[in-house]
Amino acid sequence: MRVLGIESSCDETGVAIYDTEQGLLGQALYSQVEMHARYGGVVPELASRDHVQRVLPLVRDVMEQAGTHPEQLDGIAYTAGPGLAGALLVGAGVARSLAFGWDLPAVAVHHMEGHLLAPLLEPNAPAFPFVALLVSGGHTLLLDAQGLGNYAILGESVDDAAGEAFDKAAKMMGLGYPGGPRIAGLAQQGAAGRFRFPRPMTDRPGLDMSFSGLKTFTLNTINDLGGKEALSEQDRADIARAFEEAAVDTLVIKCRRAVEQTGHKRLVMAGGVSANRSLRAKLGEQMAKRGVELFYPAPQYCTDNGAMIAFAGALRLQAGESAELPIKVRPRWPLTELAGL
Ligand code: KG4
Ligand code: ZN
Repeated sequence: MRVLGIESSCDETGVAIYDTEQGLLGQALYSQVEMHARYGGVVPELASRDHVQRVLPLVRDVMEQAGTHPEQLDGIAYTAGPGLAGALLVGAGVARSLAFGWDLPAVAVHHMEGHLLAPLLEPNAPAFPFVALLVSGGHTLLLDAQGLGNYAILGESVDDAAGEAFDKAAKMMGLGYPGGPRIAGLAQQGAAGRFRFPRPMTDRPGLDMSFSGLKTFTLNTINDLGGKEALSEQDRADIARAFEEAAVDTLVIKCRRAVEQTGHKRLVMAGGVSANRSLRAKLGEQMAKRGVELFYPAPQYCTDNGAMIAFAGALRLQAGESAELPIKVRPRWPLTELAGL
């Protein structure tokens, strides 16, 4: 089965073709990061307009790369939510229209299920069941993944997503957008122990998380040093290091509890923040001690991409699913309600 996938939920237009026999045949990604960087974050209206311009040329490019004609496709998958309504509608509209024109089934994919399944694109793919840590700019979730489409929420952030906290802290330090990779880069030059940030909600039982306190702590630390303008390069690096350590430790502590609670021997991590090297290293070390195997996608599949949508769509189409004719998106879509778009 060969599926074209389209991702347009936020600030990346991603297109890919996945073949269940041959794997990934082609992919292309256009990131709007530079356009939004000027504003310090994603501007939804600009995002939608840019997806309109990018998506069809990317589809053509990927069809060519994959040497695929429309009649060789078995379906078209698109991200139907969660995400920015206008941005989602662009991908959904194009995907549904192509599917109608080419007489193919279309399948609506949940963006977070796309992230969740991305590690299965790797050669050493994890088998179900596993604990999944989904850490992106919009969501922070710990799940018990029992099988395709069968995900129970073990815990989630009660306020900011982990990636959002990275982005906001970076903005406070004047590092620009997106903040995660910038904080991670700077943290490498940071001195250990100069600042110690709290590990929120780790002193009580449970798997819910909170990241907005780290943001406040960052702001207070910056103010104590005389404000953003007064920060030296070393101050920034030291704050970045303390912030990253706190965010990573918090995620690691919650993952440890989740594998203890479920007894699963596999932990799958995905979403933009899973590209973080310190998180990969610390989580890997802690899981190895417990005989738990850690899986994560290649860096290009941690952040938003079309491959994960084509792949999730192929699995769902194989399972006999396809979308009805009306073009529908669901900007707020709980991962536990996959049956009801
Ligand atoms: O999954 P993603 O591309 O988009 C969403 O679905 O939100 O995740 C983007 C998020 C951003 O908040 C970005 O700052 C964060 O992932 N991120 C990172 C790193 N790379 C991306 N956070 C920490 N360390 C990184 N290396
Ligand atoms: Zn994402």
